[in-house]
Amino acid sequence: MKKILITSIALMVFAFYTGAQNMLVLHPEKAETLINKNIYGHFSEHLGTLIYGGIFVDEDSDIPNTNGYRNDVLEALKELKVPVLRWPGGCFADTYHWRDGVGPREDRPSIVNVFWGGVTEDNSFGTHEFLDFCELIGTEPYLSINSGSGTVREAAEWVEYVTSGNQSPMADLRRQNGREEPWDVKFWGVGNESWGCGGDMRPEYYADIYRHYAGYIRGNNLERVAVGPSSGDYNWTEKVMSGLSDKLHLVQGLSLHHYTLPTNSWSGSKGSATDFEEDQWFSTFKHTLEVEEYIVKHLEIMDKYDPEGRVSLIVDEWGTWYDPLPGSNPGFLQQQNTIRDALVAGVNLNIFNNYAERISMANIAQIVNVLQAMILTDGPEMVKTPTYYAFKMYNVHQDATLIPTSLISEKYEYDGEELPAITSSASVKDGVTNITLTNVNPNNAVNIDCYLNGVDFKSISGQIISADVMNAYNDFGKEEKVNIANFDVKKPNNNILSLEIPAHSVVLLQLK
Ligand code: AHR
Repeated sequence: MKKILITSIALMVFAFYTGAQNMLVLHPEKAETLINKNIYGHFSEHLGTLIYGGIFVDEDSDIPNTNGYRNDVLEALKELKVPVLRWPGGCFADTYHWRDGVGPREDRPSIVNVFWGGVTEDNSFGTHEFLDFCELIGTEPYLSINSGSGTVREAAEWVEYVTSGNQSPMADLRRQNGREEPWDVKFWGVGNESWGCGGDMRPEYYADIYRHYAGYIRGNNLERVAVGPSSGDYNWTEKVMSGLSDKLHLVQGLSLHHYTLPTNSWSGSKGSATDFEEDQWFSTFKHTLEVEEYIVKHLEIMDKYDPEGRVSLIVDEWGTWYDPLPGSNPGFLQQQNTIRDALVAGVNLNIFNNYAERISMANIAQIVNVLQAMILTDGPEMVKTPTYYAFKMYNVHQDATLIPTSLISEKYEYDGEELPAITSSASVKDGVTNITLTNVNPNNAVNIDCYLNGVDFKSISGQIISADVMNAYNDFGKEEKVNIANFDVKKPNNNILSLEIPAHSVVLLQLK
Protein backbone atom coordinates (compact mmCIF):
# COMPACT_ATOMS: atom_id res chain seq x y z
CA MET A 1 0.00 0.00 0.00
CA LYS A 2 2.85 2.34 1.00
CA LYS A 3 4.72 1.64 -2.24
CA ILE A 4 1.60 2.31 -4.27
CA LEU A 5 1.17 5.61 -2.45
CA ILE A 6 4.76 6.58 -3.25
CA THR A 7 4.22 5.61 -6.91
CA SER A 8 1.06 7.70 -6.96
CA ILE A 9 2.90 10.73 -5.57
CA ALA A 10 5.70 10.23 -8.13
CA LEU A 11 3.03 10.01 -10.78
CA MET A 12 1.47 13.29 -9.73
CA VAL A 13 4.86 15.02 -9.81
CA PHE A 14 5.48 13.54 -13.28
CA ALA A 15 2.03 14.67 -14.41
CA PHE A 16 2.67 18.15 -13.02
CA TYR A 17 5.91 18.58 -14.98
CA THR A 18 4.81 16.95 -18.23
CA GLY A 19 1.30 18.45 -18.18
CA ALA A 20 -0.17 14.95 -18.59
CA GLN A 21 -3.79 15.05 -17.45
CA ASN A 22 -4.97 11.51 -17.30
CA MET A 23 -2.91 8.48 -16.40
CA LEU A 24 -3.63 5.00 -15.20
CA VAL A 25 -0.66 3.01 -13.90
CA LEU A 26 -1.04 -0.70 -13.24
CA HIS A 27 0.98 -2.37 -10.47
CA PRO A 28 0.82 -6.03 -11.52
CA GLU A 29 3.67 -6.93 -9.16
CA LYS A 30 1.35 -6.04 -6.24
CA ALA A 31 -1.57 -8.21 -7.37
CA GLU A 32 -2.59 -10.43 -4.44
CA THR A 33 -6.20 -9.77 -3.36
CA LEU A 34 -8.96 -11.90 -4.82
CA ILE A 35 -12.04 -10.03 -6.06
CA ASN A 36 -14.78 -12.15 -4.54
CA LYS A 37 -17.19 -13.02 -7.35
CA ASN A 38 -20.03 -12.22 -4.94
CA ILE A 39 -19.30 -8.51 -5.44
CA TYR A 40 -21.30 -9.14 -8.64
CA GLY A 41 -24.31 -10.32 -6.59
CA HIS A 42 -27.98 -9.46 -6.91
CA PHE A 43 -31.10 -9.00 -4.80
CA SER A 44 -34.64 -10.32 -5.30
CA GLU A 45 -37.48 -9.17 -3.04
CA HIS A 46 -41.19 -9.94 -3.06
CA LEU A 47 -41.82 -6.50 -4.46
CA GLY A 48 -43.90 -5.38 -7.43
CA THR A 49 -43.49 -7.70 -10.39
CA LEU A 50 -40.05 -9.02 -9.54
CA ILE A 51 -41.08 -12.51 -8.43
CA TYR A 52 -44.63 -12.82 -9.78
CA GLY A 53 -44.60 -11.99 -13.50
CA GLY A 54 -40.88 -11.24 -13.66
CA ILE A 55 -39.45 -14.62 -12.69
CA PHE A 56 -42.41 -16.83 -11.91
CA VAL A 57 -45.66 -17.29 -13.87
CA ASP A 58 -48.46 -19.84 -13.88
CA GLU A 59 -47.19 -23.09 -15.33
CA ASP A 60 -50.05 -22.97 -17.88
CA SER A 61 -49.27 -19.34 -18.80
CA ASP A 62 -48.74 -18.42 -22.47
CA ILE A 63 -45.31 -17.15 -21.43
CA PRO A 64 -42.89 -20.01 -22.12
CA ASN A 65 -41.72 -21.39 -18.78
CA THR A 66 -40.13 -24.34 -17.03
CA ASN A 67 -42.12 -25.31 -13.93
CA GLY A 68 -43.30 -21.70 -13.74
CA TYR A 69 -39.88 -20.06 -14.21
CA ARG A 70 -39.85 -17.83 -17.32
CA ASN A 71 -37.54 -19.34 -19.93
CA ASP A 72 -36.41 -15.95 -21.30
CA VAL A 73 -35.44 -14.71 -17.83
CA LEU A 74 -33.74 -18.01 -16.95
CA GLU A 75 -31.60 -17.82 -20.08
CA ALA A 76 -30.68 -14.15 -19.61
CA LEU A 77 -29.69 -14.72 -15.97
CA LYS A 78 -27.65 -17.85 -16.74
CA GLU A 79 -25.75 -15.83 -19.31
CA LEU A 80 -25.15 -13.10 -16.73
CA LYS A 81 -23.38 -15.50 -14.32
CA VAL A 82 -25.19 -14.35 -11.19
CA PRO A 83 -22.92 -15.49 -8.34
CA VAL A 84 -25.25 -14.87 -5.39
CA LEU A 85 -28.89 -13.83 -4.95
CA ARG A 86 -30.43 -12.32 -1.81
CA TRP A 87 -34.08 -13.17 -0.91
CA PRO A 88 -36.91 -12.61 0.21
CA GLY A 89 -36.17 -8.97 1.13
CA GLY A 90 -35.60 -6.14 1.91
CA CYS A 91 -38.38 -4.79 4.09
CA PHE A 92 -40.51 -7.78 3.08
CA ALA A 93 -38.10 -10.14 4.87
CA ASP A 94 -39.04 -8.78 8.29
CA THR A 95 -42.72 -9.59 7.62
CA TYR A 96 -42.05 -13.01 6.10
CA HIS A 97 -42.85 -16.26 7.86
CA TRP A 98 -41.17 -19.05 5.93
CA ARG A 99 -43.62 -21.74 7.05
CA ASP A 100 -46.31 -19.91 5.02
CA GLY A 101 -44.32 -20.65 1.86
CA VAL A 102 -43.72 -24.42 2.06
CA GLY A 103 -45.99 -27.43 1.52
CA PRO A 104 -48.80 -27.87 -1.02
CA ARG A 105 -49.45 -24.52 -2.70
CA GLU A 106 -53.20 -24.74 -2.32
CA ASP A 107 -52.78 -24.94 1.46
CA ARG A 108 -50.45 -21.96 1.81
CA PRO A 109 -51.95 -18.95 3.59
CA SER A 110 -51.98 -15.49 2.04
CA ILE A 111 -50.54 -12.40 3.64
CA VAL A 112 -50.62 -8.73 2.71
CA ASN A 113 -47.37 -7.23 1.47
CA VAL A 114 -47.64 -4.18 3.70
CA PHE A 115 -44.51 -2.44 2.51
CA TRP A 116 -44.94 -2.86 -1.20
CA GLY A 117 -48.28 -1.78 -2.64
CA GLY A 118 -50.46 -3.58 -0.07
CA VAL A 119 -50.98 -6.44 -2.52
CA THR A 120 -51.91 -9.97 -1.51
CA GLU A 121 -48.99 -12.36 -1.37
CA ASP A 122 -50.22 -15.93 -1.88
CA ASN A 123 -46.89 -17.50 -0.91
CA SER A 124 -46.83 -19.66 -4.03
CA PHE A 125 -43.15 -18.73 -4.42
CA GLY A 126 -41.48 -19.90 -1.22
CA THR A 127 -38.29 -21.53 0.00
CA HIS A 128 -38.35 -24.48 -2.43
CA GLU A 129 -39.23 -22.29 -5.39
CA PHE A 130 -36.45 -19.83 -4.59
CA LEU A 131 -33.75 -22.38 -3.91
CA ASP A 132 -34.70 -24.43 -7.00
CA PHE A 133 -34.49 -21.21 -9.03
CA CYS A 134 -30.98 -20.59 -7.69
CA GLU A 135 -29.98 -24.11 -8.76
CA LEU A 136 -31.42 -23.51 -12.24
CA ILE A 137 -29.44 -20.31 -12.81
CA GLY A 138 -26.34 -21.59 -11.00
CA THR A 139 -26.30 -19.04 -8.19
CA GLU A 140 -25.66 -19.18 -4.46
CA PRO A 141 -28.58 -18.19 -2.25
CA TYR A 142 -28.39 -15.59 0.52
CA LEU A 143 -31.43 -15.78 2.83
CA SER A 144 -32.65 -12.90 5.00
CA ILE A 145 -34.07 -13.98 8.31
CA ASN A 146 -37.05 -12.19 9.85
CA SER A 147 -35.77 -10.63 13.07
CA GLY A 148 -38.35 -7.82 12.96
CA SER A 149 -41.66 -9.67 13.42
CA GLY A 150 -40.37 -13.25 13.58
CA THR A 151 -38.98 -15.36 16.39
CA VAL A 152 -35.65 -16.96 17.18
CA ARG A 153 -37.32 -20.38 17.03
CA GLU A 154 -38.68 -19.64 13.55
CA ALA A 155 -35.22 -18.63 12.39
CA ALA A 156 -33.51 -21.68 13.89
CA GLU A 157 -36.11 -23.95 12.30
CA TRP A 158 -35.64 -22.34 8.87
CA VAL A 159 -31.92 -23.00 9.02
CA GLU A 160 -32.62 -26.61 10.07
CA TYR A 161 -35.26 -27.04 7.33
CA VAL A 162 -32.92 -25.83 4.62
CA THR A 163 -29.53 -27.19 5.66
CA SER A 164 -29.98 -30.28 7.84
CA GLY A 165 -29.20 -33.74 6.46
CA ASN A 166 -30.13 -35.40 9.76
CA GLN A 167 -33.32 -37.04 10.87
CA SER A 168 -34.92 -34.01 12.49
CA PRO A 169 -38.41 -32.53 12.59
CA MET A 170 -37.60 -29.76 10.10
CA ALA A 171 -35.45 -31.91 7.78
CA ASP A 172 -38.24 -34.49 7.76
CA LEU A 173 -40.77 -31.81 6.90
CA ARG A 174 -38.57 -30.74 3.99
CA ARG A 175 -38.42 -34.35 2.77
CA GLN A 176 -42.19 -34.62 3.11
CA ASN A 177 -42.39 -31.48 0.92
CA GLY A 178 -40.40 -33.19 -1.82
CA ARG A 179 -36.75 -32.32 -1.20
CA GLU A 180 -34.62 -35.17 0.07
CA GLU A 181 -31.18 -33.53 0.13
CA PRO A 182 -30.52 -30.36 2.09
CA TRP A 183 -29.57 -27.23 0.18
CA ASP A 184 -26.15 -25.75 0.62
CA VAL A 185 -27.06 -22.28 1.87
CA LYS A 186 -24.10 -20.49 3.33
CA PHE A 187 -25.25 -16.87 3.68
CA TRP A 188 -27.83 -15.85 6.31
CA GLY A 189 -28.70 -12.24 7.09
CA VAL A 190 -30.22 -11.43 10.49
CA GLY A 191 -32.92 -8.88 9.68
CA ASN A 192 -32.92 -6.04 7.19
CA GLU A 193 -32.60 -2.32 7.83
CA SER A 194 -33.43 -2.88 11.50
CA TRP A 195 -32.89 0.87 11.97
CA GLY A 196 -35.94 1.44 9.71
CA CYS A 197 -38.52 -0.90 8.19
CA GLY A 198 -37.01 -3.88 10.06
CA GLY A 199 -38.20 -2.82 13.52
CA ASP A 200 -37.08 0.80 14.03
CA MET A 201 -34.49 -0.41 16.49
CA ARG A 202 -31.72 1.46 18.20
CA PRO A 203 -28.25 0.08 17.37
CA GLU A 204 -27.64 -1.11 20.95
CA TYR A 205 -30.91 -3.04 20.88
CA TYR A 206 -30.19 -4.51 17.45
CA ALA A 207 -26.77 -5.68 18.62
CA ASP A 208 -28.51 -7.62 21.40
CA ILE A 209 -31.13 -9.00 19.01
CA TYR A 210 -28.32 -10.09 16.71
CA ARG A 211 -26.49 -11.86 19.53
CA HIS A 212 -29.71 -13.67 20.44
CA TYR A 213 -30.41 -14.85 16.87
CA ALA A 214 -26.87 -15.56 15.76
CA GLY A 215 -26.23 -18.19 18.41
CA TYR A 216 -29.17 -20.23 17.06
CA ILE A 217 -28.14 -20.00 13.42
CA ARG A 218 -26.03 -23.11 13.53
CA GLY A 219 -24.38 -25.23 10.88
CA ASN A 220 -21.10 -25.89 9.16
CA ASN A 221 -19.46 -22.92 7.48
CA LEU A 222 -22.51 -20.68 7.74
CA GLU A 223 -21.85 -16.98 7.25
CA ARG A 224 -24.05 -14.64 9.25
CA VAL A 225 -24.56 -11.06 8.19
CA ALA A 226 -25.49 -8.34 10.68
CA VAL A 227 -27.55 -5.31 9.69
CA GLY A 228 -25.19 -2.45 9.09
CA PRO A 229 -25.66 1.22 8.34
CA SER A 230 -27.38 3.24 5.69
CA SER A 231 -24.95 5.45 3.74
CA GLY A 232 -23.14 7.70 6.26
CA ASP A 233 -24.77 6.52 9.52
CA TYR A 234 -21.51 6.03 11.41
CA ASN A 235 -23.25 5.94 14.78
CA TRP A 236 -25.01 2.70 13.78
CA THR A 237 -21.72 1.04 12.82
CA GLU A 238 -20.01 2.25 15.98
CA LYS A 239 -22.73 0.96 18.33
CA VAL A 240 -23.38 -2.33 16.55
CA MET A 241 -19.68 -3.19 16.27
CA SER A 242 -19.12 -2.21 19.88
CA GLY A 243 -22.10 -4.34 20.96
CA LEU A 244 -20.76 -7.35 19.05
CA SER A 245 -17.05 -6.90 19.72
CA ASP A 246 -16.86 -9.84 22.15
CA LYS A 247 -18.85 -12.11 19.79
CA LEU A 248 -17.08 -11.56 16.50
CA HIS A 249 -16.95 -15.31 15.81
CA LEU A 250 -20.71 -15.01 15.27
CA VAL A 251 -20.42 -12.21 12.69
CA GLN A 252 -18.98 -12.81 9.25
CA GLY A 253 -20.36 -9.71 7.55
CA LEU A 254 -21.81 -6.28 8.25
CA SER A 255 -24.10 -4.87 5.60
CA LEU A 256 -24.08 -1.38 4.07
CA HIS A 257 -26.98 0.06 2.07
CA HIS A 258 -26.43 3.03 -0.20
CA TYR A 259 -28.93 4.11 -2.83
CA THR A 260 -28.22 6.76 -5.48
CA LEU A 261 -31.03 9.32 -5.71
CA PRO A 262 -30.38 12.16 -8.16
CA THR A 263 -32.09 14.72 -5.93
CA ASN A 264 -30.81 13.10 -2.73
CA SER A 265 -34.30 13.49 -1.25
CA TRP A 266 -36.41 10.63 0.16
CA SER A 267 -39.46 12.84 0.67
CA GLY A 268 -39.87 14.79 -2.58
CA SER A 269 -39.21 13.77 -6.16
CA LYS A 270 -36.16 11.57 -6.57
CA GLY A 271 -35.84 12.49 -10.25
CA SER A 272 -37.02 10.79 -13.41
CA ALA A 273 -35.28 7.67 -14.73
CA THR A 274 -35.37 8.85 -18.34
CA ASP A 275 -36.39 12.48 -18.49
CA PHE A 276 -33.47 14.40 -17.01
CA GLU A 277 -30.96 17.11 -17.86
CA GLU A 278 -27.32 17.52 -16.96
CA ASP A 279 -28.03 18.82 -13.43
CA GLN A 280 -29.47 15.42 -12.45
CA TRP A 281 -26.85 13.56 -14.43
CA PHE A 282 -24.14 15.31 -12.42
CA SER A 283 -25.85 14.87 -9.04
CA THR A 284 -26.41 11.17 -9.74
CA PHE A 285 -22.65 10.63 -10.06
CA LYS A 286 -21.90 12.94 -7.16
CA HIS A 287 -24.13 10.85 -4.88
CA THR A 288 -23.00 7.52 -6.22
CA LEU A 289 -19.31 8.38 -5.78
CA GLU A 290 -20.00 9.18 -2.11
CA VAL A 291 -20.07 5.44 -1.47
CA GLU A 292 -16.26 5.37 -1.43
CA GLU A 293 -16.13 7.75 1.54
CA TYR A 294 -18.77 5.65 3.34
CA ILE A 295 -16.79 2.47 2.72
CA VAL A 296 -13.56 4.00 4.02
CA LYS A 297 -15.13 5.48 7.16
CA HIS A 298 -17.25 2.45 8.07
CA LEU A 299 -14.20 0.22 7.64
CA GLU A 300 -12.21 2.50 9.95
CA ILE A 301 -14.86 2.05 12.65
CA MET A 302 -15.07 -1.70 12.06
CA ASP A 303 -11.27 -1.98 12.34
CA LYS A 304 -11.41 -0.40 15.80
CA TYR A 305 -13.50 -3.28 17.11
CA ASP A 306 -12.18 -5.94 14.75
CA PRO A 307 -8.47 -5.18 14.25
CA GLU A 308 -7.91 -8.50 12.47
CA GLY A 309 -10.50 -7.59 9.85
CA ARG A 310 -12.53 -10.79 10.33
CA VAL A 311 -15.86 -9.12 9.58
CA SER A 312 -16.24 -8.14 5.95
CA LEU A 313 -18.35 -5.37 4.52
CA ILE A 314 -21.30 -6.54 2.44
CA VAL A 315 -22.97 -3.83 0.34
CA ASP A 316 -26.18 -5.82 0.09
CA GLU A 317 -28.34 -3.04 -1.33
CA TRP A 318 -27.10 -0.42 -3.78
CA GLY A 319 -28.16 1.20 -7.04
CA THR A 320 -30.27 3.99 -8.44
CA TRP A 321 -33.69 4.90 -7.10
CA TYR A 322 -35.83 7.22 -9.25
CA ASP A 323 -39.47 8.29 -9.36
CA PRO A 324 -41.73 5.36 -10.29
CA LEU A 325 -42.48 4.69 -13.94
CA PRO A 326 -45.40 7.01 -14.82
CA GLY A 327 -48.69 5.10 -14.53
CA SER A 328 -47.22 2.26 -12.46
CA ASN A 329 -48.14 1.37 -8.85
CA PRO A 330 -45.75 3.61 -6.85
CA GLY A 331 -45.29 0.77 -4.34
CA PHE A 332 -43.80 -1.41 -7.08
CA LEU A 333 -40.63 0.70 -7.54
CA GLN A 334 -40.58 0.15 -11.30
CA GLN A 335 -38.18 2.34 -13.25
CA GLN A 336 -36.49 2.47 -16.65
CA ASN A 337 -32.76 2.19 -16.96
CA THR A 338 -30.50 4.26 -19.24
CA ILE A 339 -26.85 4.57 -20.17
CA ARG A 340 -26.61 6.64 -16.95
CA ASP A 341 -27.40 3.45 -15.01
CA ALA A 342 -24.76 1.46 -16.89
CA LEU A 343 -22.27 4.10 -15.76
CA VAL A 344 -23.53 4.05 -12.17
CA ALA A 345 -23.00 0.28 -12.20
CA GLY A 346 -19.51 0.63 -13.69
CA VAL A 347 -18.47 3.33 -11.21
CA ASN A 348 -19.69 1.35 -8.19
CA LEU A 349 -18.21 -1.95 -9.36
CA ASN A 350 -14.84 -0.26 -9.93
CA ILE A 351 -14.96 1.08 -6.37
CA PHE A 352 -16.01 -2.29 -4.90
CA ASN A 353 -13.22 -4.06 -6.81
CA ASN A 354 -10.66 -1.62 -5.45
CA TYR A 355 -11.81 -2.39 -1.86
CA ALA A 356 -11.97 -6.15 -2.47
CA GLU A 357 -9.69 -6.74 0.49
CA ARG A 358 -12.62 -5.94 2.80
CA ILE A 359 -15.75 -6.11 0.63
CA SER A 360 -16.76 -9.73 0.14
CA MET A 361 -20.19 -9.24 -1.42
CA ALA A 362 -22.45 -6.62 -2.98
CA ASN A 363 -26.02 -7.02 -4.21
CA ILE A 364 -27.50 -4.52 -6.60
CA ALA A 365 -31.18 -3.70 -6.05
CA GLN A 366 -32.89 -5.47 -7.74
CA ILE A 367 -32.59 -8.21 -10.33
CA VAL A 368 -35.87 -7.96 -12.33
CA ASN A 369 -38.44 -5.14 -12.70
CA VAL A 370 -37.50 -3.28 -9.50
CA LEU A 371 -35.18 -0.24 -9.14
CA GLN A 372 -31.89 -0.64 -11.06
CA ALA A 373 -32.88 -3.91 -12.68
CA MET A 374 -30.96 -6.17 -15.05
CA ILE A 375 -34.12 -7.20 -16.81
CA LEU A 376 -37.51 -5.59 -17.39
CA THR A 377 -40.56 -7.59 -18.38
CA ASP A 378 -43.93 -6.53 -19.70
CA GLY A 379 -46.25 -9.51 -20.07
CA PRO A 380 -44.46 -11.87 -22.45
CA GLU A 381 -41.84 -9.27 -23.47
CA MET A 382 -38.43 -8.84 -21.91
CA VAL A 383 -35.59 -6.35 -22.31
CA LYS A 384 -32.03 -6.43 -21.06
CA THR A 385 -31.15 -3.07 -19.54
CA PRO A 386 -27.92 -1.06 -19.91
CA THR A 387 -27.11 -2.21 -16.35
CA TYR A 388 -27.37 -5.83 -17.51
CA TYR A 389 -24.71 -5.13 -20.12
CA ALA A 390 -22.45 -3.36 -17.62
CA PHE A 391 -22.60 -6.42 -15.34
CA LYS A 392 -21.99 -8.73 -18.28
CA MET A 393 -18.94 -6.73 -19.30
CA TYR A 394 -17.53 -6.55 -15.75
CA ASN A 395 -17.98 -10.28 -15.07
CA VAL A 396 -14.36 -10.77 -16.12
CA HIS A 397 -13.42 -9.51 -12.63
CA GLN A 398 -15.31 -12.32 -10.84
CA ASP A 399 -12.79 -14.30 -8.75
CA ALA A 400 -9.90 -12.55 -10.50
CA THR A 401 -6.91 -11.08 -8.66
CA LEU A 402 -7.10 -7.33 -8.16
CA ILE A 403 -4.28 -5.34 -9.77
CA PRO A 404 -3.73 -2.19 -7.72
CA THR A 405 -3.71 0.96 -9.84
CA SER A 406 -2.83 4.64 -9.54
CA LEU A 407 -5.16 6.94 -11.42
CA ILE A 408 -4.98 10.60 -12.29
CA SER A 409 -8.17 11.87 -13.88
CA GLU A 410 -9.22 15.25 -15.15
CA LYS A 411 -12.35 16.72 -13.60
CA TYR A 412 -15.83 16.74 -15.01
CA GLU A 413 -17.18 20.17 -14.05
CA TYR A 414 -20.76 21.28 -13.85
CA ASP A 415 -22.22 24.44 -12.34
CA GLY A 416 -19.17 25.20 -10.18
CA GLU A 417 -18.76 21.66 -8.86
CA GLU A 418 -16.44 18.90 -10.04
CA LEU A 419 -16.06 15.14 -10.04
CA PRO A 420 -13.34 12.86 -11.40
CA ALA A 421 -14.30 12.04 -14.99
CA ILE A 422 -12.69 8.61 -14.93
CA THR A 423 -12.96 5.66 -12.55
CA SER A 424 -11.16 2.38 -13.12
CA SER A 425 -10.17 -1.00 -11.77
CA ALA A 426 -8.01 -3.85 -13.04
CA SER A 427 -7.59 -7.55 -12.39
CA VAL A 428 -5.89 -10.63 -13.77
CA LYS A 429 -7.33 -14.10 -14.24
CA ASP A 430 -6.07 -17.08 -16.26
CA GLY A 431 -3.32 -14.93 -17.74
CA VAL A 432 -5.72 -12.25 -18.99
CA THR A 433 -5.47 -8.71 -17.63
CA ASN A 434 -8.79 -6.87 -17.56
CA ILE A 435 -9.12 -3.11 -17.15
CA THR A 436 -12.51 -1.42 -16.76
CA LEU A 437 -12.93 2.34 -17.10
CA THR A 438 -15.87 4.71 -16.93
CA ASN A 439 -16.11 8.26 -18.26
CA VAL A 440 -19.01 10.07 -16.56
CA ASN A 441 -18.48 13.27 -18.53
CA PRO A 442 -21.57 13.41 -20.80
CA ASN A 443 -20.07 16.07 -23.08
CA ASN A 444 -16.43 15.22 -23.75
CA ALA A 445 -14.25 12.25 -24.47
CA VAL A 446 -11.24 11.79 -22.19
CA ASN A 447 -7.76 10.91 -23.45
CA ILE A 448 -5.88 8.74 -21.03
CA ASP A 449 -2.54 6.92 -21.06
CA CYS A 450 -2.40 3.49 -19.46
CA TYR A 451 1.05 2.42 -18.23
CA LEU A 452 1.35 -1.31 -18.66
CA ASN A 453 4.87 -2.08 -17.41
CA GLY A 454 5.02 -5.58 -15.98
CA VAL A 455 1.84 -6.72 -17.72
CA ASP A 456 2.42 -9.80 -19.83
CA PHE A 457 0.40 -9.67 -23.08
CA LYS A 458 0.56 -10.21 -26.82
CA SER A 459 -2.75 -8.73 -27.91
CA ILE A 460 -5.31 -6.19 -26.70
CA SER A 461 -9.03 -6.09 -27.40
CA GLY A 462 -11.70 -3.74 -26.19
CA GLN A 463 -15.43 -3.49 -25.59
CA ILE A 464 -17.60 -0.45 -24.98
CA ILE A 465 -21.08 0.48 -23.75
CA SER A 466 -22.11 3.91 -24.92
CA ALA A 467 -25.00 5.74 -26.54
CA ASP A 468 -25.81 8.77 -28.68
CA VAL A 469 -27.64 10.56 -25.88
CA MET A 470 -27.34 10.49 -22.12
CA ASN A 471 -30.83 9.10 -21.56
CA ALA A 472 -30.76 6.28 -24.13
CA TYR A 473 -32.51 3.09 -22.98
CA ASN A 474 -33.76 -0.23 -24.27
CA ASP A 475 -37.50 -0.37 -24.77
CA PHE A 476 -39.97 -3.18 -25.34
CA GLY A 477 -40.47 -4.16 -28.97
CA LYS A 478 -37.74 -1.78 -30.21
CA GLU A 479 -34.20 -2.33 -31.36
CA GLU A 480 -31.71 -2.13 -28.47
CA LYS A 481 -30.10 1.30 -28.16
CA VAL A 482 -27.57 0.35 -25.47
CA ASN A 483 -25.51 -2.78 -25.83
CA ILE A 484 -21.90 -3.98 -25.81
CA ALA A 485 -19.89 -3.09 -28.95
CA ASN A 486 -16.28 -3.60 -30.00
CA PHE A 487 -13.86 -0.86 -29.01
CA ASP A 488 -10.84 -0.38 -31.25
CA VAL A 489 -7.54 -0.02 -29.44
CA LYS A 490 -4.27 1.20 -30.96
CA LYS A 491 -1.00 -0.64 -30.34
CA PRO A 492 0.80 0.54 -27.19
CA ASN A 493 3.96 2.55 -27.56
CA ASN A 494 6.69 1.60 -25.07
CA ASN A 495 4.04 -0.12 -22.97
CA ILE A 496 1.95 3.04 -22.87
CA LEU A 497 -1.52 2.52 -24.24
CA SER A 498 -3.20 5.77 -25.33
CA LEU A 499 -6.97 5.66 -25.28
CA GLU A 500 -9.82 7.99 -26.01
CA ILE A 501 -12.75 7.11 -23.78
CA PRO A 502 -15.89 8.57 -25.38
CA ALA A 503 -18.35 10.70 -23.42
CA HIS A 504 -20.69 8.73 -21.13
CA SER A 505 -19.19 5.33 -21.74
CA VAL A 506 -18.00 2.20 -20.00
CA VAL A 507 -14.97 0.42 -21.46
CA LEU A 508 -13.32 -2.96 -20.96
CA LEU A 509 -9.78 -3.70 -22.17
CA GLN A 510 -8.49 -7.26 -22.26
CA LEU A 511 -4.77 -7.89 -22.52
CA LYS A 512 -3.92 -11.49 -23.40
O1 AHR B 1 -34.89 -2.28 -2.35
C1 AHR B 1 -36.06 -1.68 -1.89
C2 AHR B 1 -36.04 -1.44 -0.39
O2 AHR B 1 -35.03 -0.54 -0.08
C3 AHR B 1 -35.71 -2.64 0.47
O3 AHR B 1 -36.83 -3.42 0.73
C4 AHR B 1 -35.23 -2.00 1.73
O4 AHR B 1 -34.31 -2.81 2.41
C5 AHR B 1 -34.62 -0.69 1.26
O5 AHR B 1 -35.07 0.38 1.99
